[in-house]
Amino acid sequence: MSTSPRELRVGLVGYAFMGAAHSQAWRTVNRVYDLPARARMTLICGRDAGKVADAADRLGWEGHTTDWRDLVTRDDIDVVDVCTPGDSHAEIALAALAAGKHVLCEKPLANTVEEARAMAAAAATARSAGVRSMCGFNYRRVPAVTMMRDLVAAGRLGVIRHVRATYLQDWIVDPQFPLVWRLLKDRAGSGALGDIGAHIIDLTQFVTGQRITGVSAVTETFVKERPLPVDAQGLTGSVDGSAGVDGAGPATGTVTVDDAAVFVARLDGGALATYEASRFATGRKNALRVEINGSLGTVVFDLERLNELEFYDAALPPAEQGFSRILVTEGDHPYMSAWWPPGHIIGYEHSFTHQMRDFVEAVATGTDPAPSFADALQVQLVLDAVTRSAELGSSWTEVEPALVTVAA
Ligand SMILES: NC(=O)c1ccc[n+]([C@@H]2O[C@H](COP(=O)([O-])OP(=O)(O)OC[C@H]3O[C@@H](n4cnc5c(N)ncnc54)[C@H](O)[C@@H]3O)[C@@H](O)[C@H]2O)c1
Repeated sequence: MSTSPRELRVGLVGYAFMGAAHSQAWRTVNRVYDLPARARMTLICGRDAGKVADAADRLGWEGHTTDWRDLVTRDDIDVVDVCTPGDSHAEIALAALAAGKHVLCEKPLANTVEEARAMAAAAATARSAGVRSMCGFNYRRVPAVTMMRDLVAAGRLGVIRHVRATYLQDWIVDPQFPLVWRLLKDRAGSGALGDIGAHIIDLTQFVTGQRITGVSAVTETFVKERPLPVDAQGLTGSVDGSAGVDGAGPATGTVTVDDAAVFVARLDGGALATYEASRFATGRKNALRVEINGSLGTVVFDLERLNELEFYDAALPPAEQGFSRILVTEGDHPYMSAWWPPGHIIGYEHSFTHQMRDFVEAVATGTDPAPSFADALQVQLVLDAVTRSAELGSSWTEVEPALVTVAA
């Protein structure tokens, strides 16, 4: 597949927010980690010829193209990295898998369960030919989050009773914020639910090792009509870009996704869980917080203090119990041995470098990276159950297991 088993030639689709975050990680990964293969930044794709040429130069890609079909079929590409809005994930990923390329696809995996099912089936089929795929739930790779998972897996929390997860933003509190693609169901699949709710669903299932089996939900669209975006010339522009739009015009359009989603859930290990995802939490910019209570202890993660983990160890003598703050920067902590001396903290972008590290290692060693497309299908089934529950007046809605059929 590649010219040398020690080189993986990457083609990335999309050059805005995630395109830049993934580029940063591809630039870094070989230089930080000693990996069995070297990632090579071969090609980047965007629809505007001038802008993608600039992006290639700025982000460090050797070449550029305006057609993702060209990128997924080229002989000099081994890995396709999908960083576009959800409405093109399925089409690009399916074509890439059919062309025998390893695929890393941003979250949520797709816009619908049907698309996610087709992607998981294609990934399972491609796997038998040695082709790997993974969904980009990068927060799993924050060292403190991985450490949370390790503490739970080692039994340090005992039996998990409660999961409390919130992911809060405020970037559309202003009703004049324009109608960008993230506010349209046919482009984004859902609103706060699929964008940020998907992260806390994946993160909590990853940390606890438990699957959400049923939900009761409410969702709301607080601002139902918004101005259409305009470009730099004041012309009604494209709905692409979130931070990148130039402003709002006089014409308006309808918001077709949720602004906020709140739900309770049951996990298959017996835990009760609450989830809240909102773009209307005034003052909260990107506030992801997860608390897990077990019979033997509690762990708390807060993205705004991502180098830290709070741990309450109920196995200690009563006089010594209390929440301790662990600074997750020791060489023994997940992913940290390749970075800086203890106490020298890392940031948001490192989670993407860790994601590329694990993906490259899995591809190069012929193992399965996680989360798989099947894992991401399971998240999609939760998103779907939340939407249906909210539509049915919060009625209890079971989440079906993510059964993946391998095509014959
Ligand atoms: N992992 C995370 O933390 C995280 C954060 C933000 C977004 N995301 C996900 O990443 C994906 C992209 O989001 P974003 O924030 O980067 O969006 P964005 O609007 O910033 O960028 C989207 C990019 O895709 C390009 N694009 C759209 N359609 C295309 C097509 N048909 N062919 C080629 N290029 C195309 C756009 O021109 C743009 O460059 C979404 O699935 C989103 O949910 C993940």
